[in-house]
Amino acid sequence: MNMRKRLVLGNWKMNGSRQDSRDWAGAAARIATDHPLIDVGIMPATVHLQEAQQAKGNSPLWLGAQNLAAYDNGAYTGEVSAQMLLEFGVRAVLCGHSERRQLLGDNDSVVKAKLQRALAAGLIPVLCLGETLEQRESGATESVVLGQLDSALSQLQSKELERIVIAYEPVWAIGTGLTASPAQAQAVHALIRSAIAQRDAILASLIRILYGGSVKGSNAAELFAQADVDGGLIGGASLVPSEFAAICRAASQDG
Ligand code: PGA
Repeated sequence: MNMRKRLVLGNWKMNGSRQDSRDWAGAAARIATDHPLIDVGIMPATVHLQEAQQAKGNSPLWLGAQNLAAYDNGAYTGEVSAQMLLEFGVRAVLCGHSERRQLLGDNDSVVKAKLQRALAAGLIPVLCLGETLEQRESGATESVVLGQLDSALSQLQSKELERIVIAYEPVWAIGTGLTASPAQAQAVHALIRSAIAQRDAILASLIRILYGGSVKGSNAAELFAQADVDGGLIGGASLVPSEFAAICRAASQDG
């Protein structure tokens, strides 16, 4: 077992009603309470944060958000700032999820601005990295992932870097049912960790690197058993409480 406490985050994406969010958050709160050896969190739609916050109660469940504005409060119609998220007890926020990178205009400089905004507000940024199928097949996985990492983190100090969580999510594995093999995931996680080690070896040994992309109860244990996989960012399976519970159980096993 390594020193890093495993973290399992449920990314609900744009799904569910207010009542669903209450129910899912209540179930996740019980799961978090049942698994004190790991950290467990949920990321509901922003408009469902209040329901999730109420259902979470005093449990150790982390509340997270899927996105934040790249700006402080002001004239940015339609945006939601880090300060607004903090009022709901939000602790972590995704930066650079591939759906936002591919469909919603979050390029590397937007991702970097959001990450810096999150850090400045005291939120934990969960920086998502990953290659497309074409990039993998053309042998560009390493350059794409390290390029995204470097662009987001290049100007940060170690004391900021230590507050970040990284999520490796191969785009071809998200929502497709195709999971990276444990060896494929481990190889990229090790690459990310060694790139961070070039800047700060101690920090690299402490930073949590999650895997995301079609994780389910049946494949979670073998992924989490990899030396550099410190938990998961879970999409579809986080909407099914029994599946999410099975994933958290797998993360609670000794690694
Ligand atoms: P998935 O999504 O588990 O449904 O593949 C993961 C994610 O997008 O974070």
